[in-house]
Amino acid sequence: MVALLNGDCLEQMKTLPDNSVDGIVTDPPYGISFMAKKWDYDVPKVEVWKEAMRVLKPGGHALIACGTRTQHRMVCNIEDAGFEIRDVVSWIYGSGFPKSLNVSKAIDKAAGAEREVVGKKKRDAGSKSAHAFESSRSLEFDITAPATPEAKQWDGWGTALKPACEFFTLARKPLSEKTVAANILKWGTGGINIDRCRVGEETLPAQKAGQSKIGTFKRDDMVTPKRQGRFPANLIHDGSQEVLELFPETNKDSAARFFYCPKASKKDRDEGNNHPTVKPTALMQYLCRLITPTGGVVLDPYMGSGSTGKAAVKEGFSFVGCELDKDYYKIAKERIGNDDAVD
Ligand SMILES: C[S@@+](CC[C@H](N)C(=O)[O-])C[C@H]1O[C@@H](n2cnc3c(N)ncnc32)[C@H](O)[C@@H]1O
Repeated sequence: MVALLNGDCLEQMKTLPDNSVDGIVTDPPYGISFMAKKWDYDVPKVEVWKEAMRVLKPGGHALIACGTRTQHRMVCNIEDAGFEIRDVVSWIYGSGFPKSLNVSKAIDKAAGAEREVVGKKKRDAGSKSAHAFESSRSLEFDITAPATPEAKQWDGWGTALKPACEFFTLARKPLSEKTVAANILKWGTGGINIDRCRVGEETLPAQKAGQSKIGTFKRDDMVTPKRQGRFPANLIHDGSQEVLELFPETNKDSAARFFYCPKASKKDRDEGNNHPTVKPTALMQYLCRLITPTGGVVLDPYMGSGSTGKAAVKEGFSFVGCELDKDYYKIAKERIGNDDAVD
């Protein structure tokens, strides 16, 4: 079942029954006026999360994306609505671009002083982070020397770090039963699917009966023994060279312990998708899988171009999505490929 609702999510969610969805995976406005978009002027209010909680089954989880600057406001509103905050999953990537003001240049500009060009520098297209104090995206830029003594004093100072992470708050609607076990038996919700989200499960080569690294096997048990993957962590990364280099040199494989997923590629976005903040399908699949029971319903109140819906359907879940903007809604409809969208 797929139901796509065009309109304000607070109003649209009011049309859904109590305790009718199994998980919420969403990427709401971060409240940073991204690319001057009107829809991004604030994080969702407490009343939106209250409505989302009414629709969610007791013990159901929500994974809610947010950026570094407004995470505190997002989480307060989620908690004030009545959710329990269980964790924060960090998604680390190397492709962010620093939007930092060059303080020295700004001082010279304010003083009306012209800076001498002392060289040219090529931006490494593969590593946008190479020039932390430049905000221009051109491939080549001038290197200039400070003109005034004050600019010289503040040479090398900026105003922002390179963005390298986003967060998903993991929240849970309070249980209706006394224990997690009783709640899961009643509603199917309350836990997270550890085994379906283990990282790096692999089939070992056929072995002889006896002792192996992972235990003792009789010959019959051992046709395709599997090494159990790593326990899912509250850290996800994009697998980029830049991020891999952050992991300890002493253990080259340490990054492989974590689920990794790069930002959405052109192909993943799908034809004609001009949404500015598309999340990768594989990441949303992993998150849906983590919190949704088999065959359950995933809700995304802020579906944008429908990445959560596409992911949920690929994982065999039902999906309910809301989107305010008519054009994004149409893109979502195309991407999720459903027959029962509600205009
Ligand atoms: C960060 S984007 C989601 C992008 C999405 N993850 C994707 O991959 O395309 C947030 C979306 O929420 C929508 N939105 C903002 N306020 C809304 C509201 N009150 N009700 C429903 N949708 C809303 C915006 O139009 C925007 O498309």
